[in-house]
Amino acid sequence: MKRPQLTIGLFGFGVVGQGLYDVMLQSPALDKAIKKICVKNHKPRSLPDSLFCYNPDEILEDPEINTVVELINNSEEAYYIVKRALQSGKNVVSANKKMLAEHMTELIALQREHNVSLLYEASACGSIPVIRSLEEYYDNDLLLSVTGILNGSSNYILSRVFDNQKSYETALKEAQDLGFAESDPSFDVEGYDSLYKLIILTMHSFGVAISPSEVLNYGISNISEFDINYAREKGFKIKLVGQVERLRDNKITLFVLPRFVGKDKYIYSVEEEFNGVVIKGVAYDKQFMFGKGAGGHPTGSAVLSDITALMHNYRYEYKKANYFAGFSYFKDAAIEIYLRYSNKESLQSFEFQSVSEEYRGPVYSFVIGFIKLSSLLAIRGELKSRDIFIAATGKALNY
Ligand SMILES: NC(=O)c1ccc[n+]([C@@H]2O[C@H](COP(=O)([O-])OP(=O)(O)OC[C@H]3O[C@@H](n4cnc5c(N)ncnc54)[C@H](OP(=O)(O)O)[C@@H]3O)[C@@H](O)[C@H]2O)c1
Repeated sequence: MKRPQLTIGLFGFGVVGQGLYDVMLQSPALDKAIKKICVKNHKPRSLPDSLFCYNPDEILEDPEINTVVELINNSEEAYYIVKRALQSGKNVVSANKKMLAEHMTELIALQREHNVSLLYEASACGSIPVIRSLEEYYDNDLLLSVTGILNGSSNYILSRVFDNQKSYETALKEAQDLGFAESDPSFDVEGYDSLYKLIILTMHSFGVAISPSEVLNYGISNISEFDINYAREKGFKIKLVGQVERLRDNKITLFVLPRFVGKDKYIYSVEEEFNGVVIKGVAYDKQFMFGKGAGGHPTGSAVLSDITALMHNYRYEYKKANYFAGFSYFKDAAIEIYLRYSNKESLQSFEFQSVSEEYRGPVYSFVIGFIKLSSLLAIRGELKSRDIFIAATGKALNY
């Protein structure tokens, strides 16, 4: 079969757009494939002005352009661009996890309706080929769980805190200075970035499209010296972990939470801005994928891999959704958490099923016990504003 000739319209020329351009220059099959680059603002660029445009229609209505690569930093505008591109019969590559997680069902339907392909390897874990692996290699009933450090910025901060004895505030400032965290870091440190990636991974692991609003994400911004010392004394690090796990009776559960991680876990050694994903299955036990989860060139290389996949007419088959017995999302799984608090009022509406340890100190106290995810979900909106910190111990019930 003849390989399709790609003529690319690129949206966005920031960290990833420029990174993609750089890596494409080293790919002889594609080094001249970009016809137009649509950006937002007039400013000096590293490429000739004639390559740039500011009106999306110049790409979306150009019949010669058969491939749209969407690398902008606004999920609503990205949704508009991706939707229109698919509707006009163009294949699309995107890195926008928020947009993909929020519109997954509709975007899958649009691909089918218009017989086009939407690929997004770069949207989850940057350069690590986790989506295509889940789709193509882990395409059978053996998959049990996908657990990982999915966000480089928060991992960088936690690494500095645990390995370099920095305070959370100093580590966050360092991450911002190095460009790993935004000036508004909440997307990363409150677990939203990990949540959107987890939603995408869940679709390719178990074939279920779940709205991000239904899944618990709790981040690291409330961490205190007390929590850090407690973890250190027990030989743990605290990592921000996203997890989707298969339960009995075709149910799955998923959440993003800080977690105590011991030396025996693969993700213990995932440091700095790196990402790491552990894939667990019935027969192979655990496999570990590790690599750069962000940055222009690593992420650009994942985008390039999607573009070259389009040259082989590749599209996601969504095998788990199409050929497997439907999994359903079970919110009543009970997990064991460490809950640190300063005053007892902060414990209101935490409905523990059982308590295994309690400590009362002059400033900080904690309780460790099992609680249903649904009970945490019910108060998720209040968690950040309370003077508490929550971390999963890794133990679970009802599994
Ligand atoms: N940075 C990473 O390491 C990384 C890793 C994985 C995934 N991603 C994802 O990749 C995407 C891009 O991230 P980034 O870090 O490259 O962002 P960025 O550096 O902030 O660059 C964003 C680019 O998008 C352009 N843009 C914004 N709105 C636009 C619009 N409506 N039409 C056309 N262009 C528009 C901007 O134009 P101007 O140049 O005119 O401002 C800029 O070139 C995001 O979805 C992000 O989540 C990033």
